[in-house]
Amino acid sequence: MDSFRGVVSAAAQRLDSERSDAWDVHDRALDMVREGVDVVLLCVGDPDFRTPEPIIDNAVSYLRVGRTHYSPSLGEMKLRRAVADWETQTSPHPCTADEVAIFAGATAAVHGVLSCLLNEGDEIVIPEPMYVGYPPILQRIGATVVPVALDGEAGFALDLSQIKAAVTDKTRVVFVNTPGNPTGAIIHRDTLRDLAAWCYDHDLWLVCDEVYSMFTYEGVHRSLRAAADRLDNVVMIDGLSKSHAMSGWRVGWVVAPAELIYHLGHFLNATQFGITQFIQDASAFALENDQLYVAEMREEYRDRRDYVLQRLGEVRGLRCHSPQAGMFIMCDVSALRMDGKQFAEGLLSAARVSVVPGHAFGSSISHYVRIGLAQPRDVLAKGCERIARYVEELH
Ligand SMILES: Cc1ncc(COP(=O)(O)O)c(C=O)c1O
Repeated sequence: MDSFRGVVSAAAQRLDSERSDAWDVHDRALDMVREGVDVVLLCVGDPDFRTPEPIIDNAVSYLRVGRTHYSPSLGEMKLRRAVADWETQTSPHPCTADEVAIFAGATAAVHGVLSCLLNEGDEIVIPEPMYVGYPPILQRIGATVVPVALDGEAGFALDLSQIKAAVTDKTRVVFVNTPGNPTGAIIHRDTLRDLAAWCYDHDLWLVCDEVYSMFTYEGVHRSLRAAADRLDNVVMIDGLSKSHAMSGWRVGWVVAPAELIYHLGHFLNATQFGITQFIQDASAFALENDQLYVAEMREEYRDRRDYVLQRLGEVRGLRCHSPQAGMFIMCDVSALRMDGKQFAEGLLSAARVSVVPGHAFGSSISHYVRIGLAQPRDVLAKGCERIARYVEELH
């Protein structure tokens, strides 16, 4: 009998062939941990905090009363309303549940939005450094990423003229992330407003990922929806993974014009078909009752950030960029005559600390490494000591 000759789709092959080595250091670090080696893991952006107890209790109570059935594709009305109320409070534009769609995490939301806005061969302009999760989604869709390298010396501030210069007649979407991963830079409200207006005038969608909006230390986060004068071309994505230490619950959302939500409804119907009811119940509760614990986590991240900046600031050869927000510190290692990959590999082998090489976020920052703050202070202190000793030995 002939052998089976089926092949996987072009999209599946694109995802396979473009697989980046961004997480090699982290994967090797996890292997070492499994072998019993004491490694300090500073790669991940998964909050180390437990989900706050009241949210867990709320989910359990809804689980017990049988909230375990199918739910509407666009999300439970209770959660859509909670998101809309949150948006209304933080923006001059009132928001209704018709403008909200619930996804299983912000990653799924980015995928859904870009699947509804882009065709194969279209271009999307994204500032670099960019979150590692975006390129695979665009490879899946078959769209072309046009990166716009931001200047580290200028604090990775968004430069509108660069964005405008990158737009061609194939561009359909401009995509920004504020506060940014990995840089922690906040895009100023006026810049967002001007970018939204310029995109509107050029028939471009402007999509903004804001999952770090609740962890700001300097400067003020203004959501794209709050900054823009008109909302016809504006899409905002957010979620609970970071802000509420709920990464494993998989809850994110899109706020967009009702016409786009209509199409996202079809997309969700075809793909996700609703997310867990009791999780959506507890997520609505989390959004409506978060004043205390979000502030506590923010202050803890701020202390961690200040500690690492101060400790690594004493290490000759390292230049850390102070993030305005978020859960990461970018550190320039070029004075050591190495790139980020060499530094990260050497650091793991010689000093048992894992950090992410900068090239994971774009070739323009290959001389950086990203240090995560999602570890308790004693672990961060141990990591910093080891980094300091490693650099000392390099000298
Ligand atoms: C900028 C950015 N967007 C989205 C995500 C993914 O969020 P979620 O866990 O909701 O899929 C992350 C996670 O690290 C992120 O850094």
